[in-house]
Amino acid sequence: MTRPGHSSRQSPLDALADEVLNDIRERGTYRRMRVLGGLQAPRMQVDGRDVLLFAGSNYLDLARHPEVVDAAARGSRRWGCAAGGSRLITGNLECHEALENELAGFFDCEAALAFNTGYMANVGVIPALVGEGDVLISDELNHASIIDGAKLARTEVAVFRHGDVDSFAETLERVRPDARRILVAVDGVYSMHGDVAPVAEIVKRAHEADAFVLLDDAHGTGCLGVRGRGTAEAAGVLGEVDILMGTLGKSIGSFGAFVVGSAKLRDLLVNTARSFIFSCALAPAQVEAARVSLRLIDEESWRRHRLAENSERLRNGLARAGISTAPSTTHIIPVVLGENERTMAVCEALLERGYYAQGIRHPSVPRGHARLRITPMATHDESEIDGLVAAIADLYSQIAE
Ligand SMILES: Cc1ncc(COP(=O)(O)O)c(C=O)c1O
Repeated sequence: MTRPGHSSRQSPLDALADEVLNDIRERGTYRRMRVLGGLQAPRMQVDGRDVLLFAGSNYLDLARHPEVVDAAARGSRRWGCAAGGSRLITGNLECHEALENELAGFFDCEAALAFNTGYMANVGVIPALVGEGDVLISDELNHASIIDGAKLARTEVAVFRHGDVDSFAETLERVRPDARRILVAVDGVYSMHGDVAPVAEIVKRAHEADAFVLLDDAHGTGCLGVRGRGTAEAAGVLGEVDILMGTLGKSIGSFGAFVVGSAKLRDLLVNTARSFIFSCALAPAQVEAARVSLRLIDEESWRRHRLAENSERLRNGLARAGISTAPSTTHIIPVVLGENERTMAVCEALLERGYYAQGIRHPSVPRGHARLRITPMATHDESEIDGLVAAIADLYSQIAE
């Protein structure tokens, strides 16, 4: 018998792959995965080349912290490498409950529930809260997982202009008379723009209309706010967001995600969020690592201060070189270059000079808005930031000529 992929004729599956991939290549958006080597740190090997990393989401550099790594190892030794089941069957270990209690305390909320990824949290939470007859009001630049969650929910979606409170208010008024329930979803920090949602205004207006708010703070958690509680804390509405989602795989340096809110919300999600119910629980190593990181976010506040300083130094340095990073006010710093080819050429040229800042193309950003997405870390030093600025400025002046 001929194994699939080994016959001389082209299989229908290969024909399908060719058709789709050729189309992607023609549009200039073909992607391949780079291979990274070495410990998670500001300096790593990318495709075998030693570079400074300005492309990750391990913003606080906690993923290699000795206490975090020790906790992961201890977790594996104590409970094993797998949770061994879904939470509602055999996978609800003491460490999951402990993490959730600590997350609830960290965010001053009644309860928390862990999910396996931020993507799974959004595609689980949204259908648990809204469906046919309801409306999801969504910022036009919301993350793909919110868009996919809305598709699974089969709810009506009303999109408002990015970050625009007036557009949000108009949308709310328009859908209000006919909607059974309204869920408002926004990212805290926009992952390709680095700007921050007007969370306080959105929460206020949503609550006036009896709508509830889902804040996806994948990139704000641990980084923004006086105590690192994220975008809601920075906006002064930490206790007011109905459903606060954050990830454990970015600034927290582990893996997974969580939702915090009321005890009733947790109970509802345990009973109805399909991505929670029908999936194996997080591995103990990840859970224990996240628990230690939460403590370190309090004990090592210098990390988020240094992240903010490094981000500001980078934005200011690029501005002095005449390079806009608008609308970023955070540690996600875009330099919009427009065309795909030009963006990927600058990305490659930077790699040759020893810096990895990822080029981002459609569909992650709108067509014609390809960009370098630069993400400094808390532990880059000033000379590393300045070196990157000089390299980008030099390449930028070459393409401007
Ligand atoms: C805004 C936002 N939400 C959700 C996610 C998904 O989180 P995770 O990587 O844990 O699936 C991401 C990931 O990049 C994100 O940027």
